[in-house]
Amino acid sequence: MSAKQRIGILTSGGDAPGLNAGIRAVSRTLINRYDMTVIGIEKGYKGLIENQHRILTANELSGILARGGTILGTSREKPFKDKDWKADSGFGAVDKIKKNYKNLRLDGLIVLGGNGTHTTAHLLAQEGLRIIGMPKTIDNDIVCTDITFGFYTALDVATNAIDRLHSTATSHNRVMIIEVMGHKAGWLTLYSGVAGGGDVIIIPEIPYDISCIAEHLKKRAAGGKEFSIVVVAEGAISITEKDYDKKTLKKIRSKMTGSISYQIAREIEASTGLEPRVTVLGYLQRGGIPCANDRLLATEFGTAAADMAAREDYGKMVALQNNKIVSVPLADVADKIKPVPMDDPMILAAKNVGTCLADN
Ligand code: F6P
Repeated sequence: MSAKQRIGILTSGGDAPGLNAGIRAVSRTLINRYDMTVIGIEKGYKGLIENQHRILTANELSGILARGGTILGTSREKPFKDKDWKADSGFGAVDKIKKNYKNLRLDGLIVLGGNGTHTTAHLLAQEGLRIIGMPKTIDNDIVCTDITFGFYTALDVATNAIDRLHSTATSHNRVMIIEVMGHKAGWLTLYSGVAGGGDVIIIPEIPYDISCIAEHLKKRAAGGKEFSIVVVAEGAISITEKDYDKKTLKKIRSKMTGSISYQIAREIEASTGLEPRVTVLGYLQRGGIPCANDRLLATEFGTAAADMAAREDYGKMVALQNNKIVSVPLADVADKIKPVPMDDPMILAAKNVGTCLADN
């Protein structure tokens, strides 16, 4: 009789709603359908370096579908961060991962994560590990997939926050600025801005022109709308900043007081005389119960990833394209981010309903 296959699973990078639904789907499919053993690696790649793991049992996989966070823990560990990792001669992070993967007698590893996680997965695959990726992030910025799980819950949270700001903004006739996460991509900001009826939406893909924002706010005030909601992506940049190289931009930003929203608030005040208030939504967007869509997506991705492990279809990431679950090579995903394309229907929709996108 051949020994049961052993598959490792880990969650890595910033957490996102739906991770536990994903762990549950992968593990239950591997255990129930394929009679395999599932080893939960703790704290992302860190747990693989430090050899922290446990066998996932049916008991532990019960009651976690609707739970936020990740039962396995996570970290932003990047084993390849040291460019000289090859010279580590058995003591570096990559060597430890390879050693522990072998000692654990893993037949494969399934990683749930974002861009960094998939870049590492690709490099580990080149080092001989059999890896499958599952795209999660509230940022929705992973290439080759139409959507990532975690996005829809964060979208609900951000939209709900904009709704709440609306009532206080109208009571006080104020300009309210809300800063939304998304790293260098504007998906969460654009979609929550449209869903919440933001008057101005500022995304990294469209560098903002303060004179255009000021004109829009003044026009609204002159037309009797003395309040406005400005939805700003944490990665927003101005039309002046777009021409700076990475180093110069970093230097300028390090001298700035507060995040980009506070800078935009200062610029709005200087150019309109209005006094904006800033809300930085932050980690609320990542926490809490996953919405139904994220649970469904994580469950579909998870069962598909388990099927891929069973047929030994490694070196790939599970993805959703045109409503179909597919798999794509990790090589196509590694080291890339997916910005909002200028022909995204939501950009046109925002413009059609009169939203200012801070350009001309
Ligand atoms: O990638 C998810 C995300 O929440 C981004 O939107 C944000 O820029 C980043 O993670 C924050 O990371 P950290 O948890 O390391 O502060």
